[in-house]
Amino acid sequence: MTSVVVANIGELVTFEPERPVRHGAAVVLVDGVVQWVGDDADAPPADARVDAAGGAVIPGFVDSHSHLVFAGDRAAEFEARMAGRPYAAGGIRSTVAATRAATDDELRARLAALVAQARAQGTTTLEIKSGYGLTVADEERALRLAREVTDDTTFLGAHVVPVEYADDRGAYVDLVRGEMLAACAPHARWVDVFIDSGAFTVDEARIILQAGRDAGLGLRVHAGQLAADGGVALAVELGAASVDHCTHLSSSDIDALACSDTVATLLPLVEFSTRQPYPDARRLIDAGVSVAIATDCNPGSNYSSSMPLALALAVREMGVSPLEALEAATVGGARALRRSGVGEVRVGASGGVVVLDAPSHTWLAYRVGVPLVREVVGGVR
Ligand code: NIG
Ligand code: FE
Repeated sequence: MTSVVVANIGELVTFEPERPVRHGAAVVLVDGVVQWVGDDADAPPADARVDAAGGAVIPGFVDSHSHLVFAGDRAAEFEARMAGRPYAAGGIRSTVAATRAATDDELRARLAALVAQARAQGTTTLEIKSGYGLTVADEERALRLAREVTDDTTFLGAHVVPVEYADDRGAYVDLVRGEMLAACAPHARWVDVFIDSGAFTVDEARIILQAGRDAGLGLRVHAGQLAADGGVALAVELGAASVDHCTHLSSSDIDALACSDTVATLLPLVEFSTRQPYPDARRLIDAGVSVAIATDCNPGSNYSSSMPLALALAVREMGVSPLEALEAATVGGARALRRSGVGEVRVGASGGVVVLDAPSHTWLAYRVGVPLVREVVGGVR
């Protein structure tokens, strides 16, 4: 057992309901789990000491949406997009070709580097999807590799219809809900479907999600990225834990979300990288919708793993305060993953803490683009 005290904290964001922000605090973690939170003057001794130097300490970010098992890159596609070409789901197929051609070790090395980058930016809990294999063996492999770094693995065989099934999408849906699901479910906690005009319809998604649920997986949905496409209503109807993107929402989508347990996970780095309008997080929160913020780090629609930048964009473009954005990036992510004990700082929490080179959490948005994460303490899978 190793204990560490994080002492001399100027501002501690705990998100404890009765006292979400404290001042002059300290935290003790034992083997990455919070054992004590209190006034700095009362801090018990520990094996090691991290001096926060009067700075802010926040819960580790919960990035509840990423696609980190892939090979190759799509920088040329990004460049074309910045010159005016719109984002389209079809670009996924070029990453599928590169990923199928890669060895396990190549994929593992890229994944490890991306996870390390995310952690250096304060992310301690990470969901990772498959979706660039699209064969039984390649999807199973992606999930097996993702499982080496996180428990929150998501089967996304329904990312796009691969080229070899272009003329028989029904056969691909059957493969996904049958043999592919059976091979992948042992390595996955979740099943997801990309609902989009270039990907899957609401009816196809329903079939795949129901099969995933029957196989014991929790449900997540990509919907509303390029249009209000009926995916949000499906996610609510099926009781999905989260519906992600929500760039385009109808008023009835918002009403349905507000009356549900489904979290709306907003991905502002995608709007940034695809030049889409930002969703109105203020309207969602005011309507009573549970909101999360995540990166969606992937080689196509956004290749940033920066939770601080996602949070800053939410503050700048989506009408939320710095504390609301931080809550969505921590507590909201935990809700979207149906996890307790991450995204908050209280006794028993296992999501770790992040020491900032800043006097308050507001600086995450105020000093946008500056690396403010001084140290990440704890945070277990
Ligand atoms: O969440 N929308 C679907 N999937 C990813 C994009 C994947 C890609 O373009 O490679 C997303 O944005
Ligand atoms: Fe995604």
